[in-house]
Amino acid sequence: MSYSLLIRNCGQLLTLAGGRPNRPLATGWLILPDAYVACRGPEIVAVGPMAELDESQVTTETQVLDARGRVVMPGLVECHTHLVFAGNRAHEFQRKLQGESYLDILASGGGILSTVRATRTASETELLANALRHLRDFRRYGVTTVEAKSGYGLDKETELRLVRVAQEAGRQQPVRVVSTFLGAHVVPPEYKGRPADYLDFLVREVLPELRGQATFVDIFCEEGAFSVEDSRRYLQQAQALGFWLKIHAEQLHDLGGCAMAASLGAVSVDHCDYLNLEDAARLGNGGEGQTIAVLLPLVPLFLRQEKYAPGRQFIDRGLPVAISTDFNPGSCPSKNLWLALSMACLKMGLTPLEAIAGVTINAAWALRLESEIGSIEVGKRADILVLDVPDYQEIPYWLGENPVREVIIGGVVCPA
Ligand code: NIG
Ligand code: FE
Repeated sequence: MSYSLLIRNCGQLLTLAGGRPNRPLATGWLILPDAYVACRGPEIVAVGPMAELDESQVTTETQVLDARGRVVMPGLVECHTHLVFAGNRAHEFQRKLQGESYLDILASGGGILSTVRATRTASETELLANALRHLRDFRRYGVTTVEAKSGYGLDKETELRLVRVAQEAGRQQPVRVVSTFLGAHVVPPEYKGRPADYLDFLVREVLPELRGQATFVDIFCEEGAFSVEDSRRYLQQAQALGFWLKIHAEQLHDLGGCAMAASLGAVSVDHCDYLNLEDAARLGNGGEGQTIAVLLPLVPLFLRQEKYAPGRQFIDRGLPVAISTDFNPGSCPSKNLWLALSMACLKMGLTPLEAIAGVTINAAWALRLESEIGSIEVGKRADILVLDVPDYQEIPYWLGENPVREVIIGGVVCPA
């Protein structure tokens, strides 16, 4: 059978092949000059130098894209978003500019709780329309897989609705959606002062209904949200029910949430701006299948925090690093993962190749999808980007621009 899609004349094909988190990224095997990628249906079936292209597989049935010497790379994997919500928090932007902190705004009943009020009163149709619009925007940035957290319902009915909306949005357009349950985002007003009771309620009444719907269970471990001990108990219970674990931790304080979650085998620990290097080194020694640190460099920027996770030191200590926007209405209203990638270089010390790995293969690891997506290899899903630059070094350089020219998802070229 002939190729259904051929991308030829790739000036630099960034394969990310053989990528295991944090393996030193030697340019030799990572970047193929003057190369092609061939797909059959949704799958990549051949990759190599143009000189070795088997022309007999290229027939009138084959759609041919000529990359004309440009960079071709895997579709972006966005491994941490709060995709489904209503309203926005533009009114809090002013308060922040005047010096109020994220946790002060939350403690005054705003912040996450303000989005909870807007989300609880929104209809399912409205939430779905919002999610679809955001997914379309992500796709235009070249994002081909999006992790989507719930967490703006904080009651059974709304939380289940948010997971349902994310799943339905995934079915209605080409970007793949992976659901995470973040009912443990903050304590809802109904349980004020009783965090443990709220978590017990989630375990008893909500988690059992999410089997087959949500892949991951996440919790916000922070002052003003949930303690390390409450988080540990909750995550253990979620794990016993069969969910994979994630945690928001060390965002604003070093409480030990990352180390706790990693000790339970969490797939990722997210934020890590305040994670100390001893704990990072311990996490880094976890070996194969280890926990990934998901770094979110647009969040300290938007919260005016100016303390960024020391990604360079994490990598040097063997802790694998993925990069994400954390798209949400409070701490990062941006879907520009390319900007996050640049900021990871500028503020966290990553090299351009490490940052590219952070939004592809390492982000796939952070979703346990590393065998299906995140690199251009035979057998993987044909999620591929043709960029408008001739050299990967221009990717972090054109700050805030979108370098995407073509987006291919599952072997299908998406409309602009
Ligand atoms: O990842 N920190 C906790 N949760 C989100 C922000 C949610 C919000 O402010 O609405 C985050 O930053
Ligand atoms: Fe988040």
